[in-house]
Amino acid sequence: MIYSSDNYSPVPPEVLEALVDANEGYQPSYGADSQMTKVRHLIQKIFEAPDAAVYLVATGTAANSLILSTLCEPWQTIFCSPVSHIHEDECNAPEFFSGAKLTLVGDSDKINPTELRKSILAEESRGVHGPQRGPISITQITEKGQVYTLNEIKELSQIAKEFNLPVHMDGARFANALVSLNCTPAEMTWKAGVDAVTFGGTKNGLMGVEGVIFFDPDKAWEFELRRKRGAHLFSKHRYLSAQMLAYLENDLWIKLANKANKSASRLIEGLKDIKDVKFLVEPKANLMFVTMPASMHRKAFAAGLEYYTWSELDGVSDETPVLARFVVDWSRSLDDIDEFLAIMKNLV
Ligand SMILES: Cc1ncc(COP(=O)(O)O)c(C=O)c1O
Repeated sequence: MIYSSDNYSPVPPEVLEALVDANEGYQPSYGADSQMTKVRHLIQKIFEAPDAAVYLVATGTAANSLILSTLCEPWQTIFCSPVSHIHEDECNAPEFFSGAKLTLVGDSDKINPTELRKSILAEESRGVHGPQRGPISITQITEKGQVYTLNEIKELSQIAKEFNLPVHMDGARFANALVSLNCTPAEMTWKAGVDAVTFGGTKNGLMGVEGVIFFDPDKAWEFELRRKRGAHLFSKHRYLSAQMLAYLENDLWIKLANKANKSASRLIEGLKDIKDVKFLVEPKANLMFVTMPASMHRKAFAAGLEYYTWSELDGVSDETPVLARFVVDWSRSLDDIDEFLAIMKNLV
């Protein structure tokens, strides 16, 4: 029973069927396929942003890095959380593509407005010698499983706007956040001051596609050039479009995220009843961090459960609390969760 990552999850049949359908005949290449036209219009409609520039790339790292490089200059700095994916898990690709550096704000997965203002004020104090202020990047849902509320996003965006800085949202788990907040895509993005979005698809069921959305269409051409120069313009693009189209049509993306979040809620409630399981922060969607004594982890792995531990398990005493991450993906049913919980309860 694997709860390591939503990247381990299978692809929903609707998406596989769409790929088979897309395989009929010939289609123009490099994003000029007819499915992409539909994807663009659907995303513009879903986000209530008829002028938005919409693109597809195959990885979240590419989406984040190419968006950020379009939003900033090489002499600027990008403000982000110290545990953000762009800082910890992208092998410096955002810095590589943008030429900019990162400024780590505070010490939490959720950027706090006071700390953001402090970090912004601290930069640009050395004139031509120092980094200039650049975009703010927030992750929704955060890397630790929290969700920024609409007011929190607005507050951060307002600070960014005060300094004339753009805001990027790494929405690798966009759909899970949206379902958790029960709001519209527009409310969670441009209406709250977000300028560009990595619209995740892969973690919520796609084989490998992330949307890129700029609410300011003036960014379109520069992004296109950067995507090509960054080797992320797919020639047989229709296979990316077909996945995203199936994801958006009939609200499949919302249905998948609803299922993941509902199953995750069942897991969260069940884990709360197990002595010795402690949540790092209150999880709000489908990703959670808990500590449990090392002995429990050892028994869990022996019983066939699979997940990542986030602190050392080898060589520590049985009582030592060890941090672990559980991710519940779209394919998990409530019965799966009950099976997982039954094993967990037996470990105590
Ligand atoms: C918060 C976040 N952003 C972006 C990504 C995308 O990464 P990848 O380049 O592996 O698709 C991930 C994947 O783990 C993530 O967790």
